[in-house]
Amino acid sequence: MRTLIKNIKELVQVEYQPRLRVCGKDMAKMETVKDAYLLIEDEKIKAFGPMSQLTHSSALAGTSPNLGEELNGADIVVDATGRMVFPSFCDSHTHLVYANSRELEFVDKIRGLSYEEIAKRGGGILNSAKATAAASEDELYDMAQRRLEDVMRLGTGAIEIKSGYGLTTESELKLLRVIRRLKENSPLTIKSNFLGAHGIPMEYRGHQEDYVDLVINEMIPLVASEGLADFIDVFCDQGFFTVQDTERILEAGIKHGMKPKIHANEMAVSGGVQVGVKYGAISVDHLEQMGDAEIECLKGAETMPTILPGCAFFLNLPLSPARKMIDAGLPVAMASDYNPGTAPSNNMQLILSMACIRYRLTPEEAFNATTINTAYAMGVSDCLGSIAVGKRANFYITKPISTYEYMPYAFGENKVESVYINGRRI
Ligand code: NIG
Ligand code: FE
Repeated sequence: MRTLIKNIKELVQVEYQPRLRVCGKDMAKMETVKDAYLLIEDEKIKAFGPMSQLTHSSALAGTSPNLGEELNGADIVVDATGRMVFPSFCDSHTHLVYANSRELEFVDKIRGLSYEEIAKRGGGILNSAKATAAASEDELYDMAQRRLEDVMRLGTGAIEIKSGYGLTTESELKLLRVIRRLKENSPLTIKSNFLGAHGIPMEYRGHQEDYVDLVINEMIPLVASEGLADFIDVFCDQGFFTVQDTERILEAGIKHGMKPKIHANEMAVSGGVQVGVKYGAISVDHLEQMGDAEIECLKGAETMPTILPGCAFFLNLPLSPARKMIDAGLPVAMASDYNPGTAPSNNMQLILSMACIRYRLTPEEAFNATTINTAYAMGVSDCLGSIAVGKRANFYITKPISTYEYMPYAFGENKVESVYINGRRI
């Protein structure tokens, strides 16, 4: 089936030679085509270019000789006059499967308690774990499925989802099976991440290495035997898991075919960045606390530094030094961290705005940070994250807007009018 989107005011973030990620100065570069068309065949991007090609297609070098025929033979033609087309956001860090919201802790925080203080008294992640234990797999699935639907309508086309609100073997498996069902039933590209080492259950306080043993000896083998996780994650931070715990868990996960991703340096300079790079993590995430050594360590690494602006906003944390990282030649990705405790927002359009407003990224850098670089951080940038021939046709059409800079500028407004996933309007 062929779909032709024509009269696009501006087709944004096109790539003629697709890259897997964008680093340093290149983050400021973003190509667009004004007055453009986009041709989709089945679930993939078949061609794009200026509208003038539609009328003079036979004269164009480098395009299919049958382009005119292909365009004229489209099954569906959409007129996007006044509207822009963008590749879908990739959200490479979420905790979207959870049982309860936590707005009462939000009020505790307003009254002065810190995130760590709430966690110490058994709130936070343990609060969510309690509610997860009480919920059935079907209940969790229904809630998550509805959240995923909302995420999709806001322009996200690929998402990574973590477990980590289980903290027992049974509950962690339950969460991962929910993610597997989401993968099976949703058109979105979904990656699953086993985050058994998300919090330390009360009964393991003071001897957390025993919980680490449980993660390594019981949970990881079972998760692997059911093929439930693409990634393995650890909350490596002050008051949570140590570098030594992290090394042990990553080694076990890697042995079972899972690629590391790390929660690092949210509360303190935790050693999480270094341990992530050492074990070839695909990304290290949060990074509110970054010294020069952390930036140095990421230079030349395959690991994507990923900032979570929604979490820093919600917890009033210091801001990750995104500008300094980009100026040092590093790539930077930005994801939502969508979760009930530290970032209860599903909205990547808002992350795009925060990238510019709070972290001083230019709009071009912000688009790269929330699409191609987040696609890299979840291992899908070969097929998603930009508009390129052969890539998956996950994109959105905006409402009529004036410029692409309007997207981050008009924070809080939903600028997405229609969404296409795998070439189909949803
Ligand atoms: O990424 N930092 C650790 N984990 C989550 C928060 C989890 C929670 O509080 O529920 C995060 O911010
Ligand atoms: Fe997180």
